[in-house]
Amino acid sequence: MQILAIPGSIRAASLNRRLLAEAQRVAPDGIEVIIADIHDIPMYNSDHDPADEVGVAESVVRLRQQIRAANAVIISTPEYNHGIPGVLKNALDWASRPFGKSALIGKPAAVIGGGGMTGGIRAQVQLRQVLSGSGMLVMSRPEMALRFGEVFKDGVLVDEKVHENLQKVLSSLADWARKVG
Ligand SMILES: Cc1cc2nc3c(=O)[nH]c(=O)nc-3n(C[C@H](O)[C@H](O)[C@H](O)COP(=O)(O)O)c2cc1C
Repeated sequence: MQILAIPGSIRAASLNRRLLAEAQRVAPDGIEVIIADIHDIPMYNSDHDPADEVGVAESVVRLRQQIRAANAVIISTPEYNHGIPGVLKNALDWASRPFGKSALIGKPAAVIGGGGMTGGIRAQVQLRQVLSGSGMLVMSRPEMALRFGEVFKDGVLVDEKVHENLQKVLSSLADWARKVG
């Protein structure tokens, strides 16, 4: 079972990427987590996105291939101004094409993440809507909306319970993928 993990933040010290790295480290037996990199994806422009995919940016081709190859996708998103970060929406817009042949259609997905007081839950609600609208099959629970200030200290995950919960999310996603994928 291969799960592609997409961080919704591209900064070097991203806690969402660290969370996915922890998921990769503690993944249950039989689940391989691969972390995607969206830092070099260009701004979406349909002028550069022909239906035959010829000439599409290498970073976009890579992301589309990684999504196609995976059994499921997990996204860990921060919340920016009560919504999804632009870099993540941009990457998903690229992944949602070519129209009708997108790698997202029918792909099982899970959403996690973190932020301030609300754990970034408003971004997660938006993200679920975008993923469903793109044809992904979004797992409803377990949910994970972390207050990063409480679980990370100096960039290190200090709350052991989070590891256990990450394992539950990954196992649930694998079950979900076996059921609907
Ligand atoms: C432009 C911007 C807007 C933000 N808006 C919110 C917000 O609305 N709610 C929230 O909980 N955190 C907000 N934050 C804080 C981020 O969620 C927090 O810095 C988080 O750790 C970023 O994710 P990362 O560590 O993966 O980069 C904002 C941060 C930035 C840079």
